[in-house]
Amino acid sequence: MPHFGDYQFDIYLAGLRGVVPKYPVDFAGLEQRAEAAMSPSLLRYVQGGCGDEHTQRSNAAAFRHWGIVPRMMVDCSSRDLSIDLFGMRLPTPVFMAPIGVTGLCTQDGHGDLAAARAAAETGVPLTVSTLTNDPLEHVAAGMGDTPGFFQLYTPKDRELAESLVRRAEAAGYKALIVTLDTWTTGWRPRDLNAANFPQLRGHVMANYWSDPRFRAMVGRPPEEDVPGAVKVWTETFGKVLTWADMPWLRSLTTLPIVLKGICHPDDARRAIDEGADAIYCSNHGGRQANGGLAAIDLLPPVVAAAGGTPVLFDSGVRSGSDVAKALALGAAAVGIGRPYAYGLELGGAEGAVHVLRSLLAEADLLMAVNGFVDVAALRRAGAVRIQP
Ligand code: FNR
Repeated sequence: MPHFGDYQFDIYLAGLRGVVPKYPVDFAGLEQRAEAAMSPSLLRYVQGGCGDEHTQRSNAAAFRHWGIVPRMMVDCSSRDLSIDLFGMRLPTPVFMAPIGVTGLCTQDGHGDLAAARAAAETGVPLTVSTLTNDPLEHVAAGMGDTPGFFQLYTPKDRELAESLVRRAEAAGYKALIVTLDTWTTGWRPRDLNAANFPQLRGHVMANYWSDPRFRAMVGRPPEEDVPGAVKVWTETFGKVLTWADMPWLRSLTTLPIVLKGICHPDDARRAIDEGADAIYCSNHGGRQANGGLAAIDLLPPVVAAAGGTPVLFDSGVRSGSDVAKALALGAAAVGIGRPYAYGLELGGAEGAVHVLRSLLAEADLLMAVNGFVDVAALRRAGAVRIQP
């Protein structure tokens, strides 16, 4: 039976022919390479976060105060990392989190299509942001048999929101992920000091430009008047959602609705009462608010409050052991963010595939060595908080 961990044998065997991996297998090496490869403005946007970036550093650092207790004398020669989510059996417990500048992360400006190819090759679902360089239909078509999720930045214009959701449904996306923490942009010093915000320059607007309702709102083809179309976009971009909007959101779609940005157990309970199908515990990778708490530390109470409702998780996942810890703490599926963006930058679809395979290999090998045959076993074992 093939395992994700076999990726290491491929690497060692290639080494016998004098071949070393094209891209680093660890996050530090990956980020270092991406720093050298990316344009300064894109690097600032992807790498940067809110305020002095304490929260985003804490997100990654906090994984270090969680640990997994090894179990021995368990036959782990055969392992299963598959999960059940939204009525589907998925081969891996990870997914690509929505990243609004994915489109810009490849030299050709079609990074969303490259990410879709990476999804098709790895079986790792891609969450497609509202902000893309290619229309959501084209991105969906590139995913092969791998399911995709659509992430909605809810516009103030209800008809536009409805149109985007209808298009996502028609294109075959399997869940609607509604982001709650970004009706306006957080304070991002790196971007502010360079006065750079990609959307205002007309980037990653394909889903709006291609939308009949948005085109009607602009009144002429957006391509012919980019500043005018961007102005319309700024006016409609971010609806402040409240619980009172849940019946409307629910009425838009039969797809599972996932609320992204929930970090408080009371909000998790309320979301489920109001009809959410899943919770997505995330602090947006520390890009939106520099509140100071690491998302992984907020996951266990959210999982407890959610009862049997699935809780997706992201923010600070940098390695396969981070993936395993998040699963052990109750995540139903674990979102990979910046690492795959760096992979795209370094090698397009091939780079992202490498990043995902490396994360999965490390998670699989941790389970192999520590005595967990599947994700359920890891969850039963849990993770231990190490006292400083
Ligand atoms: C994001 N994220 C994000 N989230 C979302 O719901 N819609 C979006 O369009 C974006 N765009 C975006 C751009 C960039 C450059 C980054 C880095 C992140 C947040 C993303 O989904 C996820 O929550 C974070 O990336 C998780 O943090 P780490 O693990 O990447 O640090």
